[in-house]
Amino acid sequence: MFSPLYPFLWKRDSLFILDQRKLPFKKEYIKCSSYKDVIKCIKDMVVRGAPAIGVVSGYGMYLAVKNYKGNNLKEYLTKVANEFISCRPTAYNLSYVVNRIKNFSLEISKNKVDDKVLELVFKEVEEIREENKKMLQKVVENGLKLLKKNSCVLTHCNTGVLACGDIGSALGVIIEGYKNKKISFVFVDETRPYLQGARLTMLELLSAGIPCCMITDNMAGYVIKEKRINCIIVGADRIAKNGDTANKIGTYTLAVLAKYHKISFYVVAPSSSIDKDISTGKEIKIEQRDEDEVKYINGKPITLETAKVLHPAFDVTPAELITAIVTEEGIFKYPYNFK
Ligand code: MRU
Repeated sequence: MFSPLYPFLWKRDSLFILDQRKLPFKKEYIKCSSYKDVIKCIKDMVVRGAPAIGVVSGYGMYLAVKNYKGNNLKEYLTKVANEFISCRPTAYNLSYVVNRIKNFSLEISKNKVDDKVLELVFKEVEEIREENKKMLQKVVENGLKLLKKNSCVLTHCNTGVLACGDIGSALGVIIEGYKNKKISFVFVDETRPYLQGARLTMLELLSAGIPCCMITDNMAGYVIKEKRINCIIVGADRIAKNGDTANKIGTYTLAVLAKYHKISFYVVAPSSSIDKDISTGKEIKIEQRDEDEVKYINGKPITLETAKVLHPAFDVTPAELITAIVTEEGIFKYPYNFK
């Protein structure tokens, strides 16, 4: 049994991915029977959010191993892994899971894929999914420790079940925080251009019966100044060793606002979003997406055809602007020193 909002489901040897582009108005699942189908769904934002695309890519890698026909598994899986990683290069969970399944498959298969290998690879994918769930539960428990009673918070993008596959990260803290009377009201950035806040976070909050209000991204300064926001809570796509954090474009702006207004700015994420191979955010590759995603809304142009448009999907918030980074391993403060 899956919740109507569950972002993916494995059934009859195929992955069914909820088409988040159609939410909140339609609930439709897309069937993926090959790894190419899964890549297309990740690239086209059918599924999004770093932890969710991490788990989904695990199933995609399994499908790749299952459909393997060649005579050089290493070469094949390296190519497949690169295809996955390059389709959304900023989200660390994606490369973490893809590389883990690639290395695991190569270790156990000795260049030959049989039923036993497939069974073990599938088990490893399910293990990743279970780890993700357990991590997020602990992340949320830790996040709750940061909140004072009846806080009014602001969040950006979508970091709930839809983005994570389970309980959620930043939005998980917010939803549980409301149940525990630690949160009384939530402001939600609409999050241009994909409107994850307007379409997905509002859906999750309204479904949970949580008092909330949507704002356009450029209202954040006004709301922080006028509406007594206690803190800002966001997720992460990739965190460097020093705590610099890549997250949805607009996050950095919020961190600067938080600093100026002396309110706390929290990043909430599983440790599978921490890239221990990079020292600072300068090494994070920022995904650049198609300019038409900014130039058109629902198929209608909002500027001139000839207009040049920038579309970085993420920005990097420097560690010193982050009050705390919460993972399942604890609450970390600047200067960051993750385990
Ligand atoms: O482009 P998206 O929708 O995949 O971006 C999602 C975010 O930026 C989230 O904040 C991040 O992945 C954390 S999700 C728990």
